[in-house]
Amino acid sequence: SAVRSIPAPQGLPFVGNTLQIPAHAPNAFLEKLAAEHDEGIYQLDLLGRKVLFVSDPDLVAELCDETRFYKGVDPPLSIVRDFSGDGLFTARRDEPVWGHAHRILMPAFSQRSMKAYFPQMLEVAEALAAKWAVSDEVNVPDDMTRLTLDTISLTGFDYRFDSFDSPELHPFLQSMGRALTEAMFRNRQLPLVTKLKKRQEEAYRADILTMQDLVDDVIRQRRAAGRSDTKDLLGLMLEASDPQSGERLSDENIRNQVLTFLIAGHETTSGLLSFALYNLLRNPHVLARAYAEVDRMLPGDTVPTYETIMKLDVIPRILEETLRIWSPIPAFSVKAFADTTVGGYPVREGQTAVVLLPPLHRHPKAWDRPEEFDIDRWLPENRADHHPAAYKPFGNGERACIGRQFALTEARLALAVVLQRFAISDPEAYRMQIKQTLTLKPDGFTLRVRERKPYE
Ligand code: HEM
Repeated sequence: SAVRSIPAPQGLPFVGNTLQIPAHAPNAFLEKLAAEHDEGIYQLDLLGRKVLFVSDPDLVAELCDETRFYKGVDPPLSIVRDFSGDGLFTARRDEPVWGHAHRILMPAFSQRSMKAYFPQMLEVAEALAAKWAVSDEVNVPDDMTRLTLDTISLTGFDYRFDSFDSPELHPFLQSMGRALTEAMFRNRQLPLVTKLKKRQEEAYRADILTMQDLVDDVIRQRRAAGRSDTKDLLGLMLEASDPQSGERLSDENIRNQVLTFLIAGHETTSGLLSFALYNLLRNPHVLARAYAEVDRMLPGDTVPTYETIMKLDVIPRILEETLRIWSPIPAFSVKAFADTTVGGYPVREGQTAVVLLPPLHRHPKAWDRPEEFDIDRWLPENRADHHPAAYKPFGNGERACIGRQFALTEARLALAVVLQRFAISDPEAYRMQIKQTLTLKPDGFTLRVRERKPYE
């Protein structure tokens, strides 16, 4: 069939479309362009790179074919490599260490491991509840960040941030937020400009050092404890070898992995939980169903067990629908192995295609009433109707999220504990204000929380 031409909004000479992208909200801009192009694909010129942005589910289905496309590590991910190096998330296809680490760490993400982490997940969820029990107004994304950071560090590394003991977010988080934001800025900055901004460069390097110092402390504490039988993430990385090649991970790579897990293991789940609470407040009938489920499964002050959490039905569907409407990671990239076409549009070897999740997850071709928060889309009998490529909150294929079950287990538990213990309301009627630090979160979202009386 005929080769179709890809819509390409006009840019400027040399810099192309780069400077049209707003520094603080790149995704809002990319989504607006998606809405303006019914083709479900468009091309931008980013400093000479011709990048495709795709949101049509049929085109995305082709991009998810791993025989034709592989994960791309371009800006901004290649910039994040300044601090996460060859860790799992930012490893390039040509780095064998990805396979070594992937195979070494897979056992830490099995169902059995989730069950083993459960007591620690519960301990952190109870720390959140203890804080909310003596609070009136809470900052949701901040407290969810405390919860998810403490959970990944305790379960993965047996390291305690004790974030709920402190009114300020941990310095690690502040450095991380700034470094991710700087990586996002640099993505649409001329390299020359990045070089000239000396003060930003110094602050960026200082933030990276702060994060690496913490990681070194995590590893030092474990080595000092001298245990070799721990099967958590750090235990596996220090002790295990790749079953396929026999390779062990280098100290440098372990450092990159720990930092990767500290970031990837909390930043997104915290966004998911914040968006989920937002959706519940906007949809009181769904909130009522969630309360009914919690009251049935966890009556009074029943302590949640792993088994109960796995039996929940409404809460997991709230999470799935939240990940559709508000994906904390708004995009991922793939590259073509060879010259090809996608839906008749030409794609060059090595060219990057960015899958834009918000417009994909709301694409009218794939979803009825796409803007509506409807958890019944996720009933078993309705799943079969879904377009196979219209829901990718955890990415695709072998480079999809390794922490998916971890995130969902942790989020189910946290939501169950919150609803079991608290009546929530938002008298200020918060209006969604996305903050992007590469990932998305509702900025300044506060809730009023009040402990529920028994059998109220
Ligand atoms: C990869 C989303 C939670 C660790 C990814 C990718 C996505 C994603 C979209 C693929 C990125 C790409 O293709 O470039 C999410 C979401 C989460 C979540 C939405 C929460 C709701 C977690 C957690 C962990 C984790 C809890 C760790 C405990 C990772 C790692 C990778 C990854 C290590 C890289 C995998 C690889 O390439 O081998 N995640 N993630 N994520 N995620 Fe998650």
